[in-house]
Amino acid sequence: MTKPLRVGIAGLGNVGCGVVKILQQYPDMIAARAGRPVEIVCVSARDANKDRGIDISAYEWLDSPERMAGDPRLDVVIELMGGAEGTARNLVERCLKAGKPVITANKALLAEHGLELAAMADSSVVPLLYEAAVAGGIPIIKTLREGFAGNQINAIYGILNGTCNYILTEMRETGRAFDDVLKEAQQKGYAEADPSFDVDGIDAAHKLSILSALAFGVKPDFSKVDIQGIRHITADDIACATQLGYRIKLLGMARRVADGRIVQRMEPCLVPEHSPIGAVDGVYNAVLIEGNFVGSSLLVGRGAGEGPTASAVLSDIVDVARHLDKPLAGRPVYGIPALELEDAVWGGPEDILAHFYIRLSVLDKPGVLADVTAILRDHKISVESVIQRGRSPDQPVSIILSTHESRQSDVVAACSGIADLDLVRAEPTVMRIVQF
Ligand SMILES: NC(=O)c1ccc[n+]([C@@H]2O[C@H](COP(=O)([O-])OP(=O)(O)OC[C@H]3O[C@@H](n4cnc5c(N)ncnc54)[C@H](OP(=O)(O)O)[C@@H]3O)[C@@H](O)[C@H]2O)c1
Repeated sequence: MTKPLRVGIAGLGNVGCGVVKILQQYPDMIAARAGRPVEIVCVSARDANKDRGIDISAYEWLDSPERMAGDPRLDVVIELMGGAEGTARNLVERCLKAGKPVITANKALLAEHGLELAAMADSSVVPLLYEAAVAGGIPIIKTLREGFAGNQINAIYGILNGTCNYILTEMRETGRAFDDVLKEAQQKGYAEADPSFDVDGIDAAHKLSILSALAFGVKPDFSKVDIQGIRHITADDIACATQLGYRIKLLGMARRVADGRIVQRMEPCLVPEHSPIGAVDGVYNAVLIEGNFVGSSLLVGRGAGEGPTASAVLSDIVDVARHLDKPLAGRPVYGIPALELEDAVWGGPEDILAHFYIRLSVLDKPGVLADVTAILRDHKISVESVIQRGRSPDQPVSIILSTHESRQSDVVAACSGIADLDLVRAEPTVMRIVQF
């Protein structure tokens, strides 16, 4: 009988319970794929008495998940508690230092401390696997690290937060405002009580910085992602984008630009409604990879939830089980050893050339458009189209401009000048138009 893979699971929430259910319901299928049975030895969470809807009576309960790090019975520890600091970080660090393989779904931990953790994993020669940390059920980590290993990656685009995509989709389909749709998403359990991590773009930016390190072989640096969330998107923006033939998506971009610089941006963008990525609606995620030999590849799937995320954790469990005797087996955390990751030279908005969507809230008085276009001209920005929405002698109206190809830094500077005009009543909303 082949030696089983003995696991400890720290965290029995959505994802942890999902993993237990798969292991309980499909032991033979998993054993066949893993080359050995997978046995849960111990579990841990905060509340030992909580009804989790699963039977955990066969597993030892540990009040302190950190004990798993030194537990000689365990072949691998599965960290599913979450959080970039505290117990999750302690547990993962202790495991790696003790030479114990770790599987985690914790994107915050990876984004904030990935480099140190990768170095620890390398020096202890143990795997740190995190397929579930990015885009839930989409196997993007293995795809980038292994499937596209023969390519120089030029760019990655991603819809990486299901909550934002759900909100933007609902706003478009129902014409409702952001706050209204967010409230409903919270009631349905699609958004957290404190939604800021999601709607302010942080969660998606964590994931983008992980993908960027993997794709470009550079040290991950979450602080170098320019982040803008979706709170300021109005029903009017959605309607105007639709009128112009676009969808609004919270879109991540990590791209090589001139002189080897890399830009990382997470911001709402307009994408063509008939492009494959424009059709990714609701809670779905998508990642588009541009490699020099493979061309463009788009992966679409559920980015969160018990089943999809547990599915990704199981792929790591099978991976560890298959390579138990050869711990690293070509799987450094970011595809190459941590010491070989390069220091990226990060680019900024001055490196981005694109068409832009600009929405202005202005008083409808003679000369306002002339003042606006004069400022744009002074920043070398030429206008492709102008749409005025509504007419009112005393209420602000929306004017939507789209530009020809312009530099993002010029557009931002011009809009700051436009915001200071007397007849302009709110900060302009600026979004990149991305053609796929
Ligand atoms: N949910 C998703 O769709 C999804 C998708 C991708 C990645 N992830 C990642 O997966 C991880 C888990 O997410 P989740 O949605 O399953 O979270 P969750 O439902 O909030 O569950 C967290 C679990 O961890 C336990 N826990 C938290 N702090 C702990 C501590 N200090 N000591 C012991 N146990 C502790 C909790 O215990 P109690 O149950 O006793 O409170 C709970 O069982 C996170 O890193 C998350 O970012 C989640």
